[in-house]
Amino acid sequence: MSQKQRVNFGSRLGVLAAAAGSAIGLGNIWRFPYELGQNGGFAFLIVYLLCALMIGWPLMLSEFTLGRMGQSNVAGSFRSITHVKHWQWLGVMGVGCALLIMGFYSVVCGWTLEYVYQAVTDGFSGKTPTDLSQAFTAFSSDTTRPILWMLLFLLVNCSIVLAGVQKGIERSAKMLMPFLFLILIVLCVRSVTLPGGMEGLKFLFAPDFSKITPSVVLSAMGQAFFSLSLGMGCMVTYGSYISKQANLERTALEVTGLDTLMAILCAITIFPAVFAMGIDPSQGPELVFITLPTVFNQMPGGYLWAILFFLLLTIAALTSTISLLEVITAYISEELRWPRKLTAILVSLLIALLGVVCSLSMGVWGEYRIFGLNFFDLFDKFTSYILMPLGGIGISLFMGWHVDRKRLELELSNEGTLKLKYIKVYVFLLKYVTPLAILLVFINQIVGLF
Ligand code: PFF
Repeated sequence: MSQKQRVNFGSRLGVLAAAAGSAIGLGNIWRFPYELGQNGGFAFLIVYLLCALMIGWPLMLSEFTLGRMGQSNVAGSFRSITHVKHWQWLGVMGVGCALLIMGFYSVVCGWTLEYVYQAVTDGFSGKTPTDLSQAFTAFSSDTTRPILWMLLFLLVNCSIVLAGVQKGIERSAKMLMPFLFLILIVLCVRSVTLPGGMEGLKFLFAPDFSKITPSVVLSAMGQAFFSLSLGMGCMVTYGSYISKQANLERTALEVTGLDTLMAILCAITIFPAVFAMGIDPSQGPELVFITLPTVFNQMPGGYLWAILFFLLLTIAALTSTISLLEVITAYISEELRWPRKLTAILVSLLIALLGVVCSLSMGVWGEYRIFGLNFFDLFDKFTSYILMPLGGIGISLFMGWHVDRKRLELELSNEGTLKLKYIKVYVFLLKYVTPLAILLVFINQIVGLF
């Protein structure tokens, strides 16, 4: 695609909905609450907030700026900004990272569809926590059912990306995101008003800083990268569709804020309900799929709440997978000059293949392990603990040290027409704090291994 013809998101709301749609996903509703529950509640929350503010916001702003300056896919954007061609490999790594994320993420997306189905057909009622736990294990380790749901999900996902940037991505995000917020707020109010729900809030907001260990910090940082869709080119690709009139500084702040707000609201929704029903808060990935159906079972009107909750999860997942598919589709179709539609279909097929591998690794292929992890966990940990932070260091070094400061300011200020409020803070964070913080967490982790 030539630079002049590049499509743009049509409105300010469209940009916000699409970028927040990418950020807000399973990471907020499925992953954040269990990471928080396992890593000590409030202490994790504080470290997470620091990561979002000091690493997340400057990186998101850098990615938007990089994409809008480069007017191309993630690798092409690096190339069009610098003569040092090797930087583009950072973009290629991002595309690989998006592919791996889609591998395990689409499996969980399939689970969400199964649980919408179970909720609608009243499949949870009358089941004990043990029944629900066994049902989840039996379902997730099954060889066909989760795969069929995953394929259905990928089909919907692909058809939205096929419809294009404005008519597919932007329009679906504008429709789905308000609905998402509405469902969450209703659920949140219901949860905190349950008798006994206050215990959950106390767990969330009782400070116990002795819980902060290097591994908690790594988890919080990995979670921030994952939740904000950073370090792998997603926001670079979306940035390339943002119009030259948009205020990038404000958009990045809004998206970071909305994503963080959403994660906190999810935690405030889940923990009071969990405590009100007397359930252990430190469950792992199964928190949402085993614990919550137990909670809904015991709650007045639980049938309806369960449907709403799993719908929420599915919608949030969809707006994120759209962005992941877009990163890969834009890269391949622009670099290889393949037709966009054909590319989206072929990439979806490749993702389906990876998804099958991840899904089977929860069951019959469970014995194949690398570093002690099955494929599902390997893809998850490798992307959010290694690839995304590495991409984050690379992007902050590129934008903070390699790109000329004047050029950066001109892009951020829309050629001098906007007054930049936080430019000094941004540049300082980007040059020093972001790369050093990521590096320190890394080194700490490696030292901890020995
Ligand atoms: N941010 C998404 C979530 O929190 O679920 C996950 C994600 C989407 C990661 C898009 C990376 C990405 F490019």
